[in-house]
Amino acid sequence: MKILAFGTSNNRRSINRTLATYAAQLVEGATVEVLGIADYEMPIFSDEREQALGQPPQAKAFFQKIAEADALVISFTEHNGSYTAAWKNLFDWTSRIDTKVFQGKPALFLATSPGPGGAANVLAAAVNSAPYFGANVISSLSVHSFHENFDEEAGHISHRGIQRRLRRATRMLGNKVSRSLQLADTDIAV
Ligand SMILES: Cc1cc2nc3c(=O)[nH]c(=O)nc-3n(C[C@H](O)[C@H](O)[C@H](O)COP(=O)(O)O)c2cc1C
Repeated sequence: MKILAFGTSNNRRSINRTLATYAAQLVEGATVEVLGIADYEMPIFSDEREQALGQPPQAKAFFQKIAEADALVISFTEHNGSYTAAWKNLFDWTSRIDTKVFQGKPALFLATSPGPGGAANVLAAAVNSAPYFGANVISSLSVHSFHENFDEEAGHISHRGIQRRLRRATRMLGNKVSRSLQLADTDIAV
């Protein structure tokens, strides 16, 4: 089972990337690939730039990474109550290849921030719009006060309640993907 994990900021040391990576690794039997969206930066989208550039290779490569995955674990960084400019730009360019950016993949949507809000606003926006963009969100979770609740030295969630919810969410995702892969196997056998 291949899981693609990433955070939605272009910070190399993103706490959302850390959270997405950690959560993806909790899924039993998963092979995890972690992306940095800074590797897919493009000029700010405009219609004129699209006419000039077409579909940039970064957008195509990002879309292909999603295509190759069995499931997605995405953790959303919140900037001023919404998506980061880096994510919105990558998303906008990729949506011009196909509006169903997430290509029907089962997904776990997470969000975290250093503060008590836990980036819950951007998470709600992402979950609400997910069906339109082809994400099958199996579960979602906001982790507030990241630095108090994630032990960076030990590399795990230190808050027992959050850890329990995250384990449940990753188990649901793993079960969903396993079932889909088994069904696909049966289809081939028949
Ligand atoms: C311009 C800016 C706006 C921010 N707005 C929010 C916000 O609306 N809500 C929030 O929880 N954190 C906000 N933060 C704090 C970020 O959550 C924090 O910097 C976080 O570490 C960034 O996530 P990352 O480490 O995944 O890149 C903001 C930070 C910046 C620089």
